[in-house]
Amino acid sequence: MTKRALNPHAAVHRDPHALLTRLLAHTGPGGGPDEPVAALERRVADLLGTPAALFFPSGTMAQQVVLRVHAERTGRPAFAAHPTCHLDLFEQRGYAAVHGLRFHPVGDAHRPLTTAALRAVAEPLGAILWELPQREIGGTLPGWDELVEQVGVARERGAAAHLDGARLWEAQPFYDRPHAEIAGLFDSVYVSLYKGLRGIRGAVLAADEPTVAAAGVWRTRLGGALPDAWPLALAALHGLDTQLPRMAEYRDHAVAVAAAIAAGGVATVVPDPPVTPMFHVHLPVPAEAADAAAAALAEEEDVLLFRRSAPAADPGRCVVELTIGEPGLGFAPDEVAGLLAAVVARARA
Ligand SMILES: Cc1ncc(COP(=O)(O)O)c(C=O)c1O
Repeated sequence: MTKRALNPHAAVHRDPHALLTRLLAHTGPGGGPDEPVAALERRVADLLGTPAALFFPSGTMAQQVVLRVHAERTGRPAFAAHPTCHLDLFEQRGYAAVHGLRFHPVGDAHRPLTTAALRAVAEPLGAILWELPQREIGGTLPGWDELVEQVGVARERGAAAHLDGARLWEAQPFYDRPHAEIAGLFDSVYVSLYKGLRGIRGAVLAADEPTVAAAGVWRTRLGGALPDAWPLALAALHGLDTQLPRMAEYRDHAVAVAAAIAAGGVATVVPDPPVTPMFHVHLPVPAEAADAAAAALAEEEDVLLFRRSAPAADPGRCVVELTIGEPGLGFAPDEVAGLLAAVVARARA
């Protein structure tokens, strides 16, 4: 296994023994198996300023369920979101297959969501979903005033406003407002326990009491009411203590790394500058060649920059997602730029 990896979620950083050792320091003798999950739900509800919060085994389950709850309450099975939302791209369309919901994509897949595009949706909507940041276009974020205006469209239409906050922790320094103020714009919020927080897996859904109670029924029906989710909860509590306070530091390093890459002239960064610790790098080589070059570099130099790039519309180019977390702080900006240039040179050879 490669010893140095930039991505905080690379396999080398998910060593079970190292994780268990860290968690042991976080818990003591006594206390039942339900306590860590209850503590986590309380902590997230407090952070996001919601009356209730519920643990889910995955964001996939949590979001499909809450969109169903919003649809049942409003009597409208359609929800709107950016064309690249996780629900439509990566969940085998479970919203339709399992829950009978209809997805209304809004705006251009390569551009951030706009108020005008939302206003132009004629179909009655049960919910509108915002993904902050918008991962598939590099982790972009709307400005605060723009976001408030967009959520206003949901209010005007009587649709619920739902936040895919898989990376809300990473987005918060951009807004420089308390998490509760950002979450307070929405009727329901999902946050991830394993991305920025570097937990094991899992999600929390935060909302008012009736929404969370209705979501709990569907969690049980889908087999998501895990009785012993405490290791996931403990890992997330650890992440809230150790990772959440460092998000601005990670974002600042991402900005420095992106600047070094852009200055190298070989690749472009999106967005430029990054607004979260996650951003995209567009490389002028085909995806297959880039992946083979990154793997060869990992083998020879023991440094893994990325494992898989995404093909771009132009077959001669590809897109790489980079995320700066604790491991990324150990990579100087010029080192990352140099390694990427080496990947491109090797992919062209
Ligand atoms: C933006 C976004 N939403 C939702 C999810 C789903 O989360 P989970 O992997 O917990 O199902 C992901 C996972 O990558 C994501 O990136």
